[in-house]
This record gives sequence, structure tokens and C-alpha cells, in this order.
Amino acid sequence: MTSSLHAVRGELLHFTADPEDAGAAAFVHHHDGLLVIEDGHVRESGPATALLPKLPADARITDYRGKLILPGFVDTHVHYAQTDIIASYGEQLLAWLEKYTFPTEARFADPSHAGEVADFFCDELLRNGTTTALAFATVHPASVDALFDAASRRRMRMIAGKVLMDRNCPDYLSDTADSGYVESKALIDRWHGRERLLYAVTPRFAPTSTREQMTLAGRLFAEHPGLYLQSHVAENRGEVAWVAELYPEARSYLDVYERYGQLGARSVYAHCIWLDDADRQRMAATGSAMSFCPTSNLFLGSGLFDLDRAHALGVRVGIGTDVGGGTSFSMLQTLNEAYKVLQLNGQRLSAERAFYLATLGGARSLYLDGHIGNFATGKEADFVVIDPQATPLMARRMHNATTLSERLFVLMMLGDDRCVAATHVLGEIRTIP
Ligand code: GUN
Ligand code: ZN
Repeated sequence: MTSSLHAVRGELLHFTADPEDAGAAAFVHHHDGLLVIEDGHVRESGPATALLPKLPADARITDYRGKLILPGFVDTHVHYAQTDIIASYGEQLLAWLEKYTFPTEARFADPSHAGEVADFFCDELLRNGTTTALAFATVHPASVDALFDAASRRRMRMIAGKVLMDRNCPDYLSDTADSGYVESKALIDRWHGRERLLYAVTPRFAPTSTREQMTLAGRLFAEHPGLYLQSHVAENRGEVAWVAELYPEARSYLDVYERYGQLGARSVYAHCIWLDDADRQRMAATGSAMSFCPTSNLFLGSGLFDLDRAHALGVRVGIGTDVGGGTSFSMLQTLNEAYKVLQLNGQRLSAERAFYLATLGGARSLYLDGHIGNFATGKEADFVVIDPQATPLMARRMHNATTLSERLFVLMMLGDDRCVAATHVLGEIRTIP
């Protein structure tokens, strides 16, 4: 009988805790490591010299020596339907939505357009080493079908949902409280828990939903076990002021979501910039997560995320690209800008912590750390193979970097999709090496 084992050999790095809490005990690093995969899951990982002799003689071994193997990146906030307006000039959030976002999302009324963009989007995630994403579709149910179908054909982990939006938006993009509820329910029945796909109830943000729709979104979230909820909160100062006018009864923007039953485990809020500590405490107490979207926050001039306060108060945090408000699909570029946002806030982001946030931290924020996020035995074998010397400048700078920490820092500051030599999903290669 031939062996079903597959092993990859190279420099291995993965995290078991937040380096901010556990220091050097937070990660496992093998210069010459082996990741042994069986049926798409991690069977074992460790030093190659210890594990190679235990492999059956006919086990398939892929040699990635000279490359760095990390768990697949987790993008905790992204809009697949905004792929075609990435890098659109000149506006902040509310004007940007009107001028660029709504018109491009309208095109997803056409399922063939949705299918074409979904394929490109999933390939682009993989080209950048991202194997799990929490994504917004559009208001059109078929846009969700298109994304789940594209992810399923690539066997990716994808969490997504139909946008709920029944006011303060163009008529051509509006659902109603009832239609949004019924259509979401049908999508949940069709997709939630199928293969590696999970559904997220997706009220766009408080200003574009009536109270009735907010009530039904909270009901959906409560009605189905294991469901996600994704939205935006406290991104932009004009947006925050608008929410205060629309919901004068609420203590804060975040409190609007809490009043409608939209906080809790597996609820994920993008941005979380203009919050106070009472809001952060509510997020921590309810198990809600923040998605830190630095390229978007800089590009749209939104503000500076406070990672130290989130951490001090015990809130789960992941990283989001927020394409197309964000300017890159690359998690490396996103970490680069996370570092700079935190610099402007007087905070530091070590390279170890940055890579933790992009892998296990993201998985924890999505309550998926039992399945993905590191190379513990039994986890799904999603990983990215990184060439730390992908460009002449990186090769040159890497010669001048000695410690692992320095090398990771150079990688996150100078790296991008050019560094992704291969991405594997459930053990199998999904990009051309
Ligand atoms: N708030 C409501 N909708 C959006 C969106 O599409 N992108 C961003 N960045 N913020 C939002
Ligand atoms: Zn967003």
C-alpha cells in the first residue's frame, strides 16, 4: 500500500500564543523543519532530522529548504466586491461609499460578473498567502453563492454573507428588513457548515439599516448555532456623528449593535478606532472581535487603531486588509502599515506579534483556532511558503539581518506577493511555485 503521507521541508515558524503575553515561548521555530501532512491535516511538525527517519520510504516530500513556511494568513475583514475599486482617489469613508463603492457593488446583480470577480478574488488571496477570509459580499444573494462556489472549488476556508442594507443607500442596492432576513436564511441553509464554508450575518453598518432590520439581523445571529456576524464600527468621525443622530438613544456607536443583539462570540467588527474603554470592555466581555485594518485606515484617513488598549482590556484582535478601502491584498504589506499606524500612536508592533496576529491571532478572533492558525497536530494544513529573498533589495537586506526577529521584520516591511513562493490549502499546492 502506498503512503498517503506528504511532508514539506523548510524553515518552519508558527505560534502557540501571543508573543506580547508569552515572549519567546509563544512560537515554535525550526531552521530545518518538517511538516508532515495526512489527509489535508497536520500529522506532526518538528525538526527534519528527527522526523525524516520516521517517514515511510515512499512518503512524498516537497523540498522548500531556503524558504520560510508559515501558517496560511487569516484576513479578518475584506470586501470581495470591491476588488475593482481598490485604489480609488480622493475621498473619506462616506463620500467614498457613494462615489465608488455603491456603483461597483451594483454590478453584482449580474451573477456572471460576481462569478468572475469571485474567482479573481480567491486567486488573489492565495497568491498573497491568505487561506482564510471573513468577507463581505453585496446585497445580492447570488453574490454570496458566487463567492462560496469559488472558495469551495479551491477548498478554502471562507466566511461570508449577504449585505443587509435597507436605508441610506441607493434604491438599486436596497433590500428590506423582511427580504434581507428571508434571503439570509436561505443562504445559511445552503452554505453554513458546508465543507469549509461558514455564514456571517452582514449588516453593512448601523446607518444603512433600519431598526427593524437591525432587530432581524440580531435574531438571525441568535437563531443559528455557529453563525458569524460582521459589520463596521467607529471607523470615521463623520460616520460616528451620523450614528449618534440616527440612534440618539444609544450610549455609543458600539452600543447600537449591543442593543440589537449583535455582540458576542463570532461577531467581528472592522476598524474600532473611535471607541472608548467602556466599548472595549463590552467587546471583551461579550467575546466580540476587532479587525484592525491599517491600510484602509490610512488610505481613507480614518484614524489610528489603539492595539495597546484593545490588548489591555482583553479584546480579540485580528488583521484585515479591508480591500477596497484597504490598498493591498498582501498581509505582509498590511503588517507593514500596522507597524506605522502604531508608531503614530506611540505603540510598538514586534515582528513576532505581527505574524502572530496574521495567523493564530486571526484564527482566535474568528474562533477557528481549533482548526487553523498553527501547525499543531490535527489542524488543517493551510500554509504559505515565503521566499525571504524575493527581491534584490530583500536579499541584500536579509544578509544584514541576523536574528529571526530581524528577518521577520524585514519581511513584513519589504515583503509583498513577490515573496509568496507557494500557498497550500489542506496540504495541496494552490499556486504555481
Ligand atoms: N462602512 C460601511 N461600509 C463600508 C465599506 O464598504 N468599507 C469600509 N471601509 N467601511 C464601511
Ligand atoms: Zn470594510
